Order: sequence, then structure tokens, then C-alpha cells
Amino acid sequence: MKTIKVVYWSGTGNTQAMAQAIAEGVEKGEAKADLLDVDTIKADDLKDDSIFAMGCPAMGDEVLEEGSMEPFMEELESNLSGKQVALFGSYGWGDGQWMRDWEERVTEKGGKLVEGKGLMCCEEPDDQVLEDCRKLGEKLAKL
Ligand SMILES: Cc1cc2nc3c(=O)[nH]c(=O)nc-3n(C[C@H](O)[C@H](O)[C@H](O)COP(=O)(O)O)c2cc1C
Repeated sequence: MKTIKVVYWSGTGNTQAMAQAIAEGVEKGEAKADLLDVDTIKADDLKDDSIFAMGCPAMGDEVLEEGSMEPFMEELESNLSGKQVALFGSYGWGDGQWMRDWEERVTEKGGKLVEGKGLMCCEEPDDQVLEDCRKLGEKLAKL
């Protein structure tokens, strides 16, 4: 059975709730979901994964969380070519600039964005966002 890793960082649980819903969708799509706090893995652990999901909220001033996710992303960048990557995350007062920058980093390194863009939501994901996350997970399972 295919395993899809869903790697995330979350400070107050909003991006974590998205990650959990994506993992539920993966399982609904009959693949195995591996829900992983970014602190528990290294970028190298994704070297053999051709499809995965990665989530982080907007932090700092429209950047990735700098203690764990940014270093993870820096290590991962050299190994993104040809991979299908689903980005997701929650934001607060901004307009999604952190996600646009993240999307650009992934595509510049040859990664392919699943759905063509990241899945974002403002603060806590509502039922509609959670449903969109489940659908995204199901899609990952079937790619
Ligand atoms: C230190 C800090 C910096 C933040 N910077 C931004 C930002 O630049 N833009 C924005 O839209 N939201 C920003 N936010 C809001 C968070 O992205 C938002 O609350 C999000 O829902 C947190 O997700 P989480 O629960 O997964 O940690 C920031 C929050 C914190 C705590």
C-alpha cells in the first residue's frame, strides 16, 4: 500500500488540524497516511517519496516558521525535482504572501504543486476547509 507523508509544523493547532484532515483523506483514498511533526523527521527521510504534503502557517513577517520548518525546507530544496508536493497552512492577518513565496521555492526547484497552489485558511479551519483538506488527501492517495 502506498504511504503518503504529511509533514507539518503548527504552533497553535490550526495547521495541525489541516494536516489531520489531509491524513484522513489519504486513508479514505486507501493509502496509508504518515502524519509527522517536522521536528520528528529529516529532509532526507523524504528522498524516496515522490508525493507528499507539507504544512506550515505564516510566521515571522510572511515567512515559514524559522526554528524547524525553514531549516527543513532548506535541506529539502536540493531534492524536490520531479516530486509532487501539496503545500498547506493557516495564516492570520496577511494575504497569503508566505504561501506564494513557498510555492515559488518549490516550483523553482523542480517540484510540482498538487492542485497548482497551496491550500490556505485563515486561522482555525472551518468545516469547508477541513473537507477541502480531506479531498486533497484523497487526491494524493490516488496520484
Ligand atoms: C509569531 C507569529 C507570527 C505570525 N506572522 C504572520 C504573518 O506574517 N502573516 C499572517 O498572515 N499571519 C501571521 N501569524 C498568524 C498565524 O499564521 C495564524 O495564527 C495561524 O493560524 C497559526 O497557525 P498554527 O495554529 O498552525 O500555528 C503569525 C503568528 C505568530 C504567532
